[in-house]
Amino acid sequence: MKKTLSDWFSQYKRDLPWRHTKNPYFIWLSEVILQQTQVVQGLPYYLNFCEKYPTVQDLASAPEDEVLKLWQGLGYYSRARNLHKTAKIITEKYSGTFPNNYDEIRALPGVGDYTAAAIASFAFNLCYPVLDGNVSRAISRMFGVTTPIDISAGKAELMKILNKQIDKKNPSEFNQAIMEFGSMCCKPRQPLCLACPFQKNCYAFRYAVIDTLPIKNNKIAVKPRRLDYLVCIEDDHIWIKKRTNRDIWQGLYDFPEMDLPRHCEGKSPKQSMSGLLRSARNDEQMQLLYSCEHLLSHQKLTISFFKTEKLPKNLKSTAQKVPLSQFFELAVPKPIHNFASQNQHVVKAAKKKRPKLKKF
Ligand code: ADE
Repeated sequence: MKKTLSDWFSQYKRDLPWRHTKNPYFIWLSEVILQQTQVVQGLPYYLNFCEKYPTVQDLASAPEDEVLKLWQGLGYYSRARNLHKTAKIITEKYSGTFPNNYDEIRALPGVGDYTAAAIASFAFNLCYPVLDGNVSRAISRMFGVTTPIDISAGKAELMKILNKQIDKKNPSEFNQAIMEFGSMCCKPRQPLCLACPFQKNCYAFRYAVIDTLPIKNNKIAVKPRRLDYLVCIEDDHIWIKKRTNRDIWQGLYDFPEMDLPRHCEGKSPKQSMSGLLRSARNDEQMQLLYSCEHLLSHQKLTISFFKTEKLPKNLKSTAQKVPLSQFFELAVPKPIHNFASQNQHVVKAAKKKRPKLKKF
């Protein structure tokens, strides 16, 4: 398998910047970014991080808000916070030198089995197989693994095969090649079986089970959740709050949230809005501006944005006002960014309403 894979890789591999370096810091950056996203979307983030923070010390000494802003749009913001935390550990505990063995790399915050194996093999040519989604799919099809790939028994079975197949002389190239093969040739849908160098030996091709393998248990429960934001602009300032709790989007900024009466749970924003208008004081000025759905790994959010002239007093203690001009410099979750970009007229209208009249 090694020789066939290596030949395929030299012919078809993409020219990607992290393939031209052995610097573990850059490799780690690329791997953490690519856990979130496809290569095409991740590439500009990788280039931005390398340019802004050319060394691990530069990343360590950056303010967290700045790191989160650079990460904005990638999602899974705990990964950005772990990135920052790990940069500090490497700077302080390891004097700026990335650890060069699997166990120390694996012990860093945010580094799991896959990332540790990727860094250990790509940067230090250590013999640890990588097992990501692309590799799991390719191996499951090729070797006919029918145990679900997202349970520990399935992972153990795949690891056993990989430990046997890996090129012990060049684990770095083998790992990159099997990942690339999974992503480019043995794709989830419409894999390129007719051009595949393993076609003759592939279990799934032989038994026509390409569409059935790999098998997944898929047990992630997705809970519905409502977020009802109050958008309040006063004197060219907008009320925002920082999400500090252990919850989604920790460290990012959003708007003060309205606590909905219980009878509104499960109702559409419009239905609950009419209830609110009837039941609350001062709500004549509240206007539903925009609502959307946003899917996270474990939550399905229904988000509504209500414009209000006055922020309720009880929400002020956890909120702060920032000049409108600074709003777009903050790290905000994607749906907040989308709302703000699509509703700039709200901001403009707020500005227009108060002409500054000079007294003569
Ligand atoms: N996805 C995750 N890591 C990758 C890498 N090093 N090259 C291409 N795609 C990847």
